[in-house]
Amino acid sequence: MTISKGFLIIGAVYLVIGMSLGIWMGANEAFTLAPVHAHINLVGFTLMTLFGLAYRVIPALNTTLWGRLHFWLFQIGGLVLLVSLYLLVSQTLPGATIGPVLAISEMVVLAGVVAFLFNLFKSA
Ligand code: HEM
Repeated sequence: MTISKGFLIIGAVYLVIGMSLGIWMGANEAFTLAPVHAHINLVGFTLMTLFGLAYRVIPALNTTLWGRLHFWLFQIGGLVLLVSLYLLVSQTLPGATIGPVLAISEMVVLAGVVAFLFNLFKSA
C-alpha cells in the first residue's frame, strides 16, 4: 500500500468515528467530548486526507524515508494523542497522569510533520 492510500483510508476511518461521535453528542445533548470530536475530525480526517492528496499529487513523496517517517510518526502519535485527549476530557484519568502522555504524543505528531516538511524540500 502506498503512503498516499494509507493516509486516505485511515483518514476516512477517523471521519466515520468523528461523525459518529458528533451524532451521539447531538442526540444525547452531551457536549463534553466536543474537543475530542473536533480533533478526531481535524487531525484524524482533515489532515490525513490533505497528506494523502499531497502524496497522490506528488508521487515522488511516497518513495522516501522521510515519507515513511512522516506516515508512521503521524499514525502512532495521532492515535495516542486522540485516545489521551479522550481520557483527559472524559475525566477517565487525571491530568497529572495522562498529561505527560499527551505531551509526548504531541511531540511525536509534530516530529511527523517536520518529516513531511523535509520530504517536501527533498522531493516536491
Ligand atoms: C455527522 C457530522 C457531524 C456532526 C453530527 C457534528 C456534531 C457536532 C456537535 C454536536 C458539536 C458540539 C457543538 C456544541 O458544543 O455546541 C460539534 C462541534 C464541533 N465539530 Fe462537529 N459534527 C460533525 C462533523 C464535523 C466535521 C466533519 C468536523 C471537522 C472536519 C467537525 C468539527 C467540529 C468542531 C471544530 C467543533 C467545535 C468543538 C469545540 O467547540 O470544542 N465536525 N460537532
